[in-house]
This record gives sequence, structure tokens and C-alpha cells, in this order.
Amino acid sequence: AKSGPSAVTNTMGAYACQRKTPLEHHNAVLTDALLLLAENADFCTNEGRSVAFKRAASVLKALPGPVRRMEELQGLPCLGEHCQRVIKEILEHGASSEVEMTRHSEHYQAMKALTGIFGVGVKTAEQWHRAGIRHPADLVSSEHKLNRAQRAGVEYYEHLRVPVTKAEADRIGEIVKRAVDAVLLGAEITLTGGFRRGKQTGHDVDFLITHPDEGREEGLLPKVVSWLEARDLLLYQKTNKNSYLEAKEWPARPPSNMDRFERCFSIFKLQRPWAALEEPPQSGERGAAETPGWKAVRVDLVVTPVSQFAFALLGWTGSQLFERDLRRWAGQKGMSLSSHALYDCEQKRYLRATSEEEIFAHLGLEYIPPGERNA
Ligand code: CTP
Ligand code: MN
Ligand code: MN
Ligand code: MN
Repeated sequence: AKSGPSAVTNTMGAYACQRKTPLEHHNAVLTDALLLLAENADFCTNEGRSVAFKRAASVLKALPGPVRRMEELQGLPCLGEHCQRVIKEILEHGASSEVEMTRHSEHYQAMKALTGIFGVGVKTAEQWHRAGIRHPADLVSSEHKLNRAQRAGVEYYEHLRVPVTKAEADRIGEIVKRAVDAVLLGAEITLTGGFRRGKQTGHDVDFLITHPDEGREEGLLPKVVSWLEARDLLLYQKTNKNSYLEAKEWPARPPSNMDRFERCFSIFKLQRPWAALEEPPQSGERGAAETPGWKAVRVDLVVTPVSQFAFALLGWTGSQLFERDLRRWAGQKGMSLSSHALYDCEQKRYLRATSEEEIFAHLGLEYIPPGERNA
């Protein structure tokens, strides 16, 4: 074993699922910079480069203290030449010229605004950008055809830009619970996504719905949606049926990143008398009459059979990089992990689990609690 300051960092695993990554960490200046370059690589449809920057940022998030000198990075995984150059410049000069140039570039800013519209991915944003569109407002007067999701995205753009608070997520949880209780006795809802990892804000609210009796959950979402719509609580929704059939999954169709649960991507209309109490309008700044009595909030509802619940919970808790590395880790162990199941390719059989702990054990990983999956 080596001695000296790099001895500890040398032991850091190269997969995010081998590390504990807390929400609060000590290297935000560096990770913000690297994540901006990752975002920009996404905007240039360079996924490989984007993932490399995200991995590097993730390693820095897992460090026990702030990086002060380049030598402290010795032996750490996932820090390529490009990343090291960026880090070095920030440590020496307080900022990276590449990051600042990117941040102020017209392409980055336009792509950030356009991909920030619900229903708009990088490909569409890039097409619009080439046609001279720079901002969602440019779409209102343009000839460009928008689909139903994008029309909602443009309409509620200013609302959806504002982060969702934990209090709002809890309030939506109460509403979803009431809807689910009304249409199926005994159904259970679980808050997943970033809020389950301990985040205090998010870009949306994610829920998993199940029922202890396998099969009872089938066809639940259309009823929940009707209940919500009857009460004027939805501004937009798109519901998909479950298309997962285990018998047909393997080896015919290897698990993909996209799961096939019954699901609903929606925009809730959240009435907010309590928000007005939290943040009273500043006198002269914004009159009470202009403050809408509601806020548009993105909500994802996913229904899972109880036999797949642990896999769905693990798959929907994130972070996205944590999930990506879990699947990569499984692959390297001769297994295949999805949000539905874990398949052992050598034994040619599914490995069952009723808890996340069991899935980590199947994978030969130390259990990482949700609050430490912020990779
Ligand atoms: N997810 C998924 N399939 C999708 C969308 C998301 O499996 N079509 C999973 C992702 O793996 C992600 C989790 O659901 O880890 C939550 O996704 P998302 O809401 O996009 O991210 P959060 O981590 O919740 O971040 P935020 O707080 O910004 O919502
Ligand atoms: Mn670059
Ligand atoms: Mn989320
Ligand atoms: Mn989501």
C-alpha cells in the first residue's frame, strides 16, 4: 500500500455505485464548471464527452474535502486530461477560460433556453437554433409546428423554470395520495427522484405507485388522471400503458434505459395559498393581482407491479449517473439490470428482490442509501 496523501483517494471506486456521494459536498466551484461543460457537450450531441465530464464532477463530489492542489487528485478515477486542465486553471486563476467562453456563447445560451422547454430535446432545439430561434418567445410567432407537449412547455415555461420546493412536492404527494385512494383501495405511493435523495428542490416531482396484490395496479393511471382532471388539477398529461412482458424480455430484448411501466408525464395545477404566506409579495414590486393563485409543476407518475417495486424504486431514485453506473457495473458482472428486473446472463435466470438492499447484494455492492446516491 502507498503512503502519503493519495493513499485514501486511491481507493475510490471508478463506478459511481461504489461510492457514497452526499448532496452537500466541498467542490461546488469545480463541479459546476465541469457540469457546464457536460451540458454543453450534450448540446453538441457529444454524449461520450458529456458523460466523461459528469463522471469527473461526480468523483469530486465524493471527496471528503475541498481540492486545493493538483497533487491531491493523484490516483483518482475518471479525471482525464481535459478535466485536469480545467481544474488546474480554476485552482490557479479562480476560473476556467473554456468554461466562461462556453457559458457566454450564443449557442450554449440558446440551447439551454430551448431544451429548458418541456417536451424539447437537443435534436429539436438544434433544428430550431439553426432556423434562428433563440428563445421560447420566438416560437410563439414562428411557423414552427409544436406538438402538444411542446405547446404546454411553451405556455408554462416561466412556471416550470422555477424549481419545485420540497413543501410543494409534499403537497402534491397529498393530492396524488387522495386520487389513488379514491380509485383503488390499498394502493401505495412513494416519492422517488431527487426528493428521495434529500434534495430540497427539483425540476419535477416523481412518484411510484403500487398495490400489495400483484395485478390490482393494472390500468390504475387512467382512473387517477380522470379523478384529477375532474377537479381541474391537471394542465397537461400524457399517459402510456405498461408494455413490459417478462417472458418476452430476455434474450429477445435486452433491457434498455427506458422502462416500460404504465406512466403519466403531467403538469399539475398547484393552488398555492401557502406559497403566498411563505413569500409575501414585495410592496411595489409585484401586485397581489398579478400573482397567479397557482403554479404549474411537472409531475411523473409511474405504476409498478409489486414484484418489480424494488427495481423500480432503485431505478427511479437516481441520480442519473448513479443509475448509469449501476447498469454498467451489472453488465461487467455478467448481469443485466433495468427498472423492472435483474437478469443473470450466465445462470440464465432472473434474480428476485423485494428491497433495494437485496439488489445491491445480488450485484456484490455495498448498500448505498438514497441520500448518498447524489453522483
Ligand atoms: N428516469 C427513468 N426514465 C425516464 C426518466 C427518468 O428511468 N424516462 C429515472 C432516472 O434514472 C432518474 C430518475 O428517474 O434517476 C429521476 O429522474 P428526473 O426526475 O429526471 O431526475 P431527478 O434526479 O429527480 O432530478 P430533479 O430533481 O431535477 O427532478
Ligand atoms: Mn468543450
Ligand atoms: Mn425528478
Ligand atoms: Mn422525473
